[in-house]
Amino acid sequence: MKDNAVSSDLSGKRILLVIGGGIAAFKSLDLIRRLRERGASVRAVLTKAGAEFVTPLSVSALTEDKVYTDLFSLTDEAEMGHIQLSRQADLVVVAPATADLIAKMAHGHANDLASTVLMATDKRVLIAPAMNVRMWDHKATQRNLTTLQGDGVLVAGPNEGAMACGEFGPGRMAEPLEIVTAIERAFAVSQPLSGKRAIVTSGPTHEPIDPVRFIGNRSSGKQGHAIAAALAGQGADVTLVTGPVALPDPAGVETVHVETAREMLAAVEAALPADIAVCAAAVADWRVADEADQKLKKEEGKTLPTLNLTENPDILKAVSRHPSKRPDLVVGFAAETEKVEEHAAAKRSRKGCDWILANDVSPQTGTFGGDRNAVTLISDTGSVPWPAADKADIANRLAAEISAHFAPGTDKSPLEVAE
Ligand code: CTP
Repeated sequence: MKDNAVSSDLSGKRILLVIGGGIAAFKSLDLIRRLRERGASVRAVLTKAGAEFVTPLSVSALTEDKVYTDLFSLTDEAEMGHIQLSRQADLVVVAPATADLIAKMAHGHANDLASTVLMATDKRVLIAPAMNVRMWDHKATQRNLTTLQGDGVLVAGPNEGAMACGEFGPGRMAEPLEIVTAIERAFAVSQPLSGKRAIVTSGPTHEPIDPVRFIGNRSSGKQGHAIAAALAGQGADVTLVTGPVALPDPAGVETVHVETAREMLAAVEAALPADIAVCAAAVADWRVADEADQKLKKEEGKTLPTLNLTENPDILKAVSRHPSKRPDLVVGFAAETEKVEEHAAAKRSRKGCDWILANDVSPQTGTFGGDRNAVTLISDTGSVPWPAADKADIANRLAAEISAHFAPGTDKSPLEVAE
């Protein structure tokens, strides 16, 4: 199919197309063809009502894939669960989006495969509404649309014109090529890191003393996990390597769980090459040199055990100075309790990373384990303090700076990115 591609705009993109029940469903067949011409792969979910207008066979012939119709199909669930279905796509497109499907989405109903997939997805969703003009104009539909747009759902159309029911007005589904343009725009606008690979480290490491004890620290992983999610939100293909934390794995991110610094280094090296590396983990600097095979026992009258420490590998340094697979942009953090900027700048040159985010982790700041952070971004062009903000906001700002760094035609200075 790629051989006769008319444009490479959508090449490699995976579209999950939900076909709702409306006369416009026949246009979705052409939409599939247009998307595939542009190099996208299309997997289709056909609602029960949609199957009244187009047959699963014709959809399947055009997608060259199985068509998914039933929430409770044992064979479908065994082959590809509905959660998987919703995640293995870069964009979910609903065309035609009927008044009923729009209402279900706005209210969070999940009572068939299409609505369940739409609830379960962690990807952006674009809808192409199609319905009778009075249904379109109805306050309930307009209210639902406002809700969906507030949720970040993209809307293509509808167009104005003569309708199958004989009336005239807005409600006709956008033409397939108009929907294709909206899809291309969705990828172009909000996925500036699409095609880039990123590795993020997060959380503490636990260095065993014996089978039941370890050396650890108070890192919660909140900042690193938020960075991984923000980079994925900008379209990057993200591997998160995390130490033990009490957080769920971020959606849309490949997460590798490790315990120790050495395991973290091995997982990061296995994830290379990458374009971007962000080391946000609070890696234990030392581990116990002679980890005990059995639990250390208290014995009356005996001298207390002594822990002999040895240095752990420095993951940030190893990535920054990697002989063959150094990412284009390596970002570190500097957790300091005094002379924050001075120590951070020295750490940046010692470790060889491009940018370092200096943060004050003195106990009174509440940064370690807390929800907020205040950082200063230090690069070779100087240092910029960012206002204190939630860790999610810091993550989004960092992702925006990274996107600007990779944007064609910029001078790659993080200092000139507008807030
Ligand atoms: N880091 C790392 N591997 C280590 C230690 C630190 O990858 N073994 C990374 C952290 O993820 C962070 C940066 O190095 O991005 C700085 O970590 P920090 O704890 O501030 O510094 P240290 O290297 O531990 O130095 P010091 O204890 O002297 O402040």
